[in-house]
Amino acid sequence: MPTDDKNKIKTVKRIAVLTSGGDAPGMNAAIRAIVISAQHYQIAVIGFCAGFNGLIDDMSMPLSVKDVANIIQKGGTILKSARCPAMKTPLGIAQAASTLLKEKIDALIVIGGDGSFAGLIALQQEWSGQVIGIPATIDNDIDGSDFTIGFSTAINTAIEAIDKIRDTAEAFERIFIVELMGRHSGHITFNVGIACAAEQVISFENFAHNNQTMGEQEKLLTLAQEIKLAQANRHASYIIVIAENVWQGGASVLARQLQDLAHIDCTACILGHIQRGGSPVAKDRILATKLGVGAVQAIIAGKSNIMIAEQNNTVAAVALQTAIMHQQGVSKSLIQAQENILALTAQRLC
Ligand code: F6P
Repeated sequence: MPTDDKNKIKTVKRIAVLTSGGDAPGMNAAIRAIVISAQHYQIAVIGFCAGFNGLIDDMSMPLSVKDVANIIQKGGTILKSARCPAMKTPLGIAQAASTLLKEKIDALIVIGGDGSFAGLIALQQEWSGQVIGIPATIDNDIDGSDFTIGFSTAINTAIEAIDKIRDTAEAFERIFIVELMGRHSGHITFNVGIACAAEQVISFENFAHNNQTMGEQEKLLTLAQEIKLAQANRHASYIIVIAENVWQGGASVLARQLQDLAHIDCTACILGHIQRGGSPVAKDRILATKLGVGAVQAIIAGKSNIMIAEQNNTVAAVALQTAIMHQQGVSKSLIQAQENILALTAQRLC
């Protein structure tokens, strides 16, 4: 290590870490990497429980290498997570800063999504320690980060579930509408839809955008026509994957409306929080480990106000403000392939 870094190590004595927002498989792997790296540089780590709430209420625990043994394979987060509306108030921010001062923390690492990073930015008004974000959310919507921790596991979980749905759909020649998570982003829906060979992918990036001028009724009619066209003379399953929040009322309402309007029998299935759980896949464990190590090294190098993320297979530093400014979009080539080639070919096959 350069002499410069060695000098800085002496000034960093205590790092704090917390997990915030929707939990994501791989958060534990990141915590583990932070604790082990910090120990390597003789820095103590304390964890705050239940997201920023634990910081506000000073609920902390020391984290040793022993504490993070055998957690790399576990979903969820050993620190627990939560959303924290109080971090949007001056009082909450002041309380969080006061805990950091009281606990003599030099640097804070937050593992979470854009809402959590906004909390981290707000904290800097009241606290002068170093702040680092690590992108972890199943939604994969953080700008400047090729992949967020948890996304790969979530899509694999959803793919496994839909493959099973396909078996029963095929046996009954049924139409299924499967609703997937992602809040306001279609990364999960597009990737899962393509990987499961879904006959229709309905997400913000294609459906809502392309049909902005259409009313709900018109959109429904178009969809009904497409399904009827595809199903004519075809005795097979038909799977529509739909992003949550894209259709008012979600998959169940859409299924009912298709029945009422066009006598199309659909079964709705909401995959829900199953997508957030489970043992992280290799890609998430490895990504989380790289980012955890990178975060500690960034602190030692004196950096602050950044997200440590992977870009083109390299660990990179991105300004927190940049990371939260825009939502990372779904790959245009993926959307075009689905819209212009895969969906049309599926219709012709019928
Ligand atoms: O951000 C992760 C996520 O799972 C989103 O996909 C989803 O919209 C949201 O969290 C659900 O949040 P909650 O579990 O708090 O209802």
